[in-house]
Amino acid sequence: MTASLNTIEHADCLEYLRALPDESVDVTFADPPFNLKKKYNAYWDNLDVTQYVEWCHDWVREMARVTKPSGSIFVHNIPKWLSYYCQILNEIADFRHWISWEAIGTPLGKTLLPTHYGILFYAKDYSQLKFYDVRYPHHRCRKCNTLRKDYGGKKKRLHPFGPLVSDVWTDLHRIRHSKRRDRHPCQLPIPLMERIILMSTDEGDTVLDPFMGTGTTAVAAKRLGRNFMGCDIDPKYVRIATDHVDVIQPASKIGDVWVSLYLDQVATMRDADWDELQNHFDVPQPAQAIDTESIKFRDGKLKAIENAVYLQERKKPTLFELENLNTDQPQ
Ligand SMILES: C[S@@+](CC[C@H](N)C(=O)[O-])C[C@H]1O[C@@H](n2cnc3c(N)ncnc32)[C@H](O)[C@@H]1O
Repeated sequence: MTASLNTIEHADCLEYLRALPDESVDVTFADPPFNLKKKYNAYWDNLDVTQYVEWCHDWVREMARVTKPSGSIFVHNIPKWLSYYCQILNEIADFRHWISWEAIGTPLGKTLLPTHYGILFYAKDYSQLKFYDVRYPHHRCRKCNTLRKDYGGKKKRLHPFGPLVSDVWTDLHRIRHSKRRDRHPCQLPIPLMERIILMSTDEGDTVLDPFMGTGTTAVAAKRLGRNFMGCDIDPKYVRIATDHVDVIQPASKIGDVWVSLYLDQVATMRDADWDELQNHFDVPQPAQAIDTESIKFRDGKLKAIENAVYLQERKKPTLFELENLNTDQPQ
């Protein structure tokens, strides 16, 4: 098994990870199948609990092994399975956060309405961890543009761009529209991966994902000038992911600053980059005017930078019929 930089291999996650040296990757991220009987192409998403948990323990250990001492380990899943991952990760890495990513729920009966996915964030070694604070744009009323949150008398001290990201993420949404999906039942949104990458890596670092699916991690890493590596067991997804990543160029930046761009907005920026970034924005004056006025990008449309990330029109895959897709629900 060869695992090359900036390539998505057709491989089983364990076979792939076992071929890598210890502490060789900056950040590892996993979005495994959730064992929810989803309709995937290449495997059965319906193991019994013991089998599924044992399998997860194997690749979670491998992910931790290949992560550098300064690196982070992220795992996305429904809360039920994350509770098992914590048992293993607490022994071999340092807990940082359980990120709650808001989702639309469906009542299941005899239960609280499940409305979040979890993303576990562990440091391989907290004393050596590479981490950057990140910010997201202020949440505003669509009609009147006023800040949704009432900051009372503290408006003067508000950051003009937006608040620091907490461990509850409500501003990034799952891909629901079939036009935006790559024909995969569980495709993650690119801005989610970009946030994770901006807070845990530098330009030129490597992000590994052993469950690449349609390549969201690879695309986000490449857009932000990072390297990627990873695999998927389904050759069709590997092809879709490779086609996708091939048309991306590392250009998601304003001036010299890497940012996550989505729908003509900066979705995530590093706190430390604001000194440089503010030169590209008109910032409302006086400071408390931020209550009703947004910062404005000076150099045209942010959408133009986002579009320039694509070298050419993407070939949309036609491998699966839309009616074969399930929508996702946290459970
Ligand atoms: C939840 S999806 C990942 C979706 C991905 N994050 C994206 O945004 O497209 C899980 C993926 O794991 C893959 N998979 C399942 N078992 C695997 C295994 N043993 N080794 C590698 N990949 C596997 C599936 O084919 C599927 O694409």
